[in-house]
Order: sequence, then structure tokens, then C-alpha cells
Amino acid sequence: MKDFNYYAPTQVVFGADAEEQIPQLIKSFGGTKVLIHYGGKSAERSGLLQEIEQRLKDAAIPYVKLGGVVPNPRLSKAQEGIDLCRKEGVDFILAVGGGSVIDSSKCMALGVPYSGDVWDFYAGKAQASACLPLAAVLTIPAAGSEMSGGSVITKDEGELKWSYDDNLCRCKFAIMNPKRTYTLPAYQTACGVTDIMMHTMERYFSHEEMGVTDALAIALLKAVRQYGPMVLDNPEDYYLRSQIMWAGSLAHNDLTGCGTIGDWATHNMEHELSALYGVAHGAGLASLWCHWANYVMDAKVARFARFAREVMDVDAIDDEVAAREGVNRMRAFYHSIGMPASIPALIGRKATEEELLLMAEKCSRGKTITNGNFKQLAYEDVLSIYRAANE
Ligand code: NZQ
Ligand code: ZN
Repeated sequence: MKDFNYYAPTQVVFGADAEEQIPQLIKSFGGTKVLIHYGGKSAERSGLLQEIEQRLKDAAIPYVKLGGVVPNPRLSKAQEGIDLCRKEGVDFILAVGGGSVIDSSKCMALGVPYSGDVWDFYAGKAQASACLPLAAVLTIPAAGSEMSGGSVITKDEGELKWSYDDNLCRCKFAIMNPKRTYTLPAYQTACGVTDIMMHTMERYFSHEEMGVTDALAIALLKAVRQYGPMVLDNPEDYYLRSQIMWAGSLAHNDLTGCGTIGDWATHNMEHELSALYGVAHGAGLASLWCHWANYVMDAKVARFARFAREVMDVDAIDDEVAAREGVNRMRAFYHSIGMPASIPALIGRKATEEELLLMAEKCSRGKTITNGNFKQLAYEDVLSIYRAANE
């Protein structure tokens, strides 16, 4: 068990009437002029956006709006938002949407008080010293950005999808109303289920044994494995939607990372897929995970065997047999929820060799870094996993 410093300051307001508290919470965190940031049309179609606007009007809180955030959000949109915030004197950002909108909001919140280019943070050239307060009205449980300190942004030139982690940009509060997720298409729901499980798995696949943390991780994984397929069959079931929504936050608020350093190779490799092909992050993860698992398993077979037995209900006695069967069952799980378990299944064709080389090159930052901790993956390893996933 490694030493850790646990910090999860986001106030969570969870429930069917959670939105009622938005104006009072904004005021309590010092907001006097708000930017409402949102994505495509989903929040407009559902009436959520109009409802929030009405609540702010009723509370006499001035606001401006900026929509158009695309999945795998772009630096150019955040830069547009930074300019708008400065021009309008915005002092609070309200993200209405999922990980993409929240991450774009974090980028803006970091950029407004910074005199340089906000990309400096993502490029590892600078550390933020200030951030506008922000909050999220979550409409899709998946990325966990509502409680995480991370944001992932794609720079338009070069399709560089890089992340920046900082406690400064954690949401002040998160409004979570499971009813707002009823309108999610099945594919997005399944992407969310995949990402939620993966956030726990990235932390679980470690060489540390962590009694309490492991128990929490396994409970979360089992619950999402159980409720995920059920929610796809019952998209308007409040109880099921609420289980997935809460799991999404718990999976990425670092709770299951206490005592370990986590792996994150699958995430890093996926970010290259979503940067290059514009695919949904959760689907990209599903296309890679089994191939990553088979490649790294020998670093500690017993950990995969435990995962297989405790999460995937495998009863084989031999560790190696159990570990392999656990991965097979995960692949079957992805198929059962409509997720692709290979690159061709993800993008509808095989990736070209040039594309694989480019992604491996970008993922290992020009062969200068390794990825992952369960097994450290050099450029050649990353390329091997992409190739295996491309069969
Ligand atoms: O744009 P709209 O019209 O709102 O549609 C969205 C979008 O097309 C739609 N949607 C959202 N809520 C809906 C809805 N459709 C119907 N009803 C609703 N209630 O869903 C689509 C996907 O939304 P997006 O925000 O892109 O999904 P997600 O939450 O999965 O976020 C993905 C992004 O988060 C990053 C990913 O890399 C990706 O860029 N991540 C961020 C992390 C973090 N900040 O901590 C960690 C994650 O590992 C991840 O990397
Ligand atoms: Zn993720």
C-alpha cells in the first residue's frame, strides 16, 4: 500500500430534483456571471438547457451561453470560450453535458486567468496557479470528469489528444439527476459502462495488494457488470440509471486509486484512437483492453486470476487458465453490450500499417516515454498491442 493524499472536494447533489439547487450553489461559490457551456443538441432537445436558463433568470444571475462542444473536445472551442469569458466578465462556468463539455469547461477555466497559451498546461510546459470556479450538470455517466482533476483536450493541429491533471480545476459541485440520462442512446450508455469499468480496472491492475481499496474496486466492477446490461434493456429505469451514474463518479474520483499508482496504458493508447478516428472514448477502450491484457498478463498472472474469479465469476483453479478465461469473458461482455473488441470492429475496417505506426509514435511521444505501470510498454510494445487489436 503506497502512501497517498486523497482529495475529492466536489459537492455532489444527486437526485431527481437536483437542478433546483443550481442557482444557490453558484452563488455560494461566488459566481456572479455565468457561462453555460454545452455540447451539440442533446441538452436543448431534452429541455434541460432552457430549464437551467430559467432558473438563473429567476435567481437574477446573469449568464452567457456557448454550445458546440464536440465529443473529444477541441482546443479551438475552449479558446473561443476563454475569449468570451474575458469579454463578458464571466466568473463561473457551468458545464451542461458529459466528459467532453466538462473537460472543455476545465480548459477554459484554467485559461481565463492565464496570460500564456492554455495548451502550455496540456503540453507539460506550465503548471496552473489559478482557475475559475466551475461546476457540472452531468448528462452522461462515463468519463467521471465531474469529480476528477483531469481534463483531456485535442489540439486541432496534429490531432494531439493530451491531458492535464490539477486539483485546481475540480468541479465545485456536480448536479446528478439520473432522469437526465434516460435519453442516452444505447451506444453511448454502453460506452459509459465500459469507461466506468475501465477507470476502476486501470487502478486495479497494479502490483500492489490493497485490501480495502481492492474490495471497493471489485464491488464497483461487479455492480457495473450487473447493472450495465440491465440498463440497456430498461433505459428509463431510475434505479438502474442511478446505479450507473453514481458508479461513474466513484470510479474516477480516485477512491479506488488510494494506495496504488494505476496503469493507464489502455487509456493512453485509446486517446490516440479517438484523436485519429474521432470514435467514442469508451468504445475505443473496449477495442483495446483484451489485447492489452493478453500482452501484459505475464507480469502478474495472479492479479488477472483474481480479477477473473472475483469479477468475472471464473472458477478455474489454475491461475493461468483463470486469467485467460477472465479476459475471454470480458470480451464476451463487450459483445453483449454492443461494444467493439477490436480496431476493425471499432472503425469498420482494418487500420493501415501507417496509422498503427503513427499512433504508436504519438502514444510514446516520439519513442521518448513508456506507457503503463503494470508492465511498462515501450514504443514496440504499444505497436504490438495495436497490431494485435487490429486482427
Ligand atoms: O453533444 P451532445 O448533443 O450533448 O451529445 C452527447 C455526445 O454526442 C451525447 N449525450 C450526452 N448526454 C446525453 C447525450 N445524448 C442524449 N442524452 C443525453 N443525456 O453523448 C455524446 C458523448 O458525450 P461526451 O461528453 O463526449 O461523452 P463522455 O462523457 O464519454 O466524454 C468523453 C470525453 O471525456 C474524456 C474522453 O477522452 C473524451 O474526450 N475523458 C475525460 C476524463 C476526465 N476528464 O477525467 C477521463 C476519461 O478517461 C476520458 O479520457
Ligand atoms: Zn476513460
